[in-house]
Amino acid sequence: MIYLDANATTPMLPEVVEAMMPWLTEQYCNPNASYRGAKAARKAVEQAREQVAVWLGALPEEVVFMSGGTESTNTALKWLARWVGRKSGRVVTTAVEHSAVLKVIENFAQVGYAVEKCGVDSGGRLDLEAFDEACARAEEGGGFASVMAVNNETGVIQPWVEACEKAHARGLAFHTDAIQAMGKVEVNVREVPVDFLSLSAHKFHGPKGVGALYVRSGCRFEPLLRGGGQESDRRSGTENVAGIVGMGKAAELARLWLEAGRDLRGLRDDFEARVVGGVEGVTVNGDLIHRVSTTSHLSFERCEAAGLLILLDEMGVACSAGSACMTGKQQPSHVQKAMGFSDGKARSSLRFGFSRMNTREEVVEAAGCVVKAVEKLRRVQGGGGTGPVMVYSP
Ligand SMILES: Cc1ncc(COP(=O)(O)O)c(C=O)c1O
Repeated sequence: MIYLDANATTPMLPEVVEAMMPWLTEQYCNPNASYRGAKAARKAVEQAREQVAVWLGALPEEVVFMSGGTESTNTALKWLARWVGRKSGRVVTTAVEHSAVLKVIENFAQVGYAVEKCGVDSGGRLDLEAFDEACARAEEGGGFASVMAVNNETGVIQPWVEACEKAHARGLAFHTDAIQAMGKVEVNVREVPVDFLSLSAHKFHGPKGVGALYVRSGCRFEPLLRGGGQESDRRSGTENVAGIVGMGKAAELARLWLEAGRDLRGLRDDFEARVVGGVEGVTVNGDLIHRVSTTSHLSFERCEAAGLLILLDEMGVACSAGSACMTGKQQPSHVQKAMGFSDGKARSSLRFGFSRMNTREEVVEAAGCVVKAVEKLRRVQGGGGTGPVMVYSP
């Protein structure tokens, strides 16, 4: 398989697996106990916290480990909503957030919060002016804002730094979903004074089912999960020691990778040039200046993404239509709608996600497969027209 779906998840690096192994096998003690084995587990958890903190420019005590990105966003948002209170509470966000943010905030709207989902331009970037106006409306009664750093479907980098400044200038607390940003753009909480920030290990070559919430020290905070008081009573539940160790190692490796000035622009650009040059009617979507080098979001005229996905899967190329969570559904995603895609264009779009594990050879081969798949699908469908077309079924 040529795996080009790194926005959905990334393969673990061998060093990460190696670091985790002892904690999955002979080192099984509960880090909250008092004997030697337990103390070793506690030390491993604290070392991982340090690794994540160094990467973020945070203090170790500002990092709270939890079960992944979804728990992290839910914890931050539900606390913020409780804090501002539903009577006066206003919530400002964007129309293109991941469902781990959007579904939570939509639920706030159902129970009486005033929610504003700010729009994006055709390149998928937040309209900062509209955002500022929404923050101004929230200023009176108190509220909070949540803006993602990088969009999971398009790879577009949002103006989250400016959004944080604007929200704070209006007295609003600020959360960012940095889950797709980590390891791709610099995220340093010493430079960007976010109050809460969510991350997830499996997006940067760590294990699945582990993530963290950054909580700026001094910020009021109450946990979502209560119980045994782990994580300084900010997230109860016995720690996933192996997962946390893997996350720490992955964070360290991602930091070193970025510090060495590495990125995947050359690989991604080569892929796009080969596809765009190989077949007509291809559009590269998303703001071309503000996007991470690991995502390519393409639309193919006169081709249904669902059919392309089947053909590419047969050829051994794994990619995705829209976001992973939308796969299998024929509806345009909320991101595509917000960017003003027609239904036809939305249904003819594929997302390719690259990671440092991809080789040049893979990318060249995958681009060739995409070209062949598009040509085949257009032949099968008979070409012509730009609207929705039949889905190829093998
Ligand atoms: C932007 C974004 N936010 C949140 C999530 C949810 O993270 P997790 O899979 O760790 O729950 C994802 C995962 O796809 C994501 O891409």
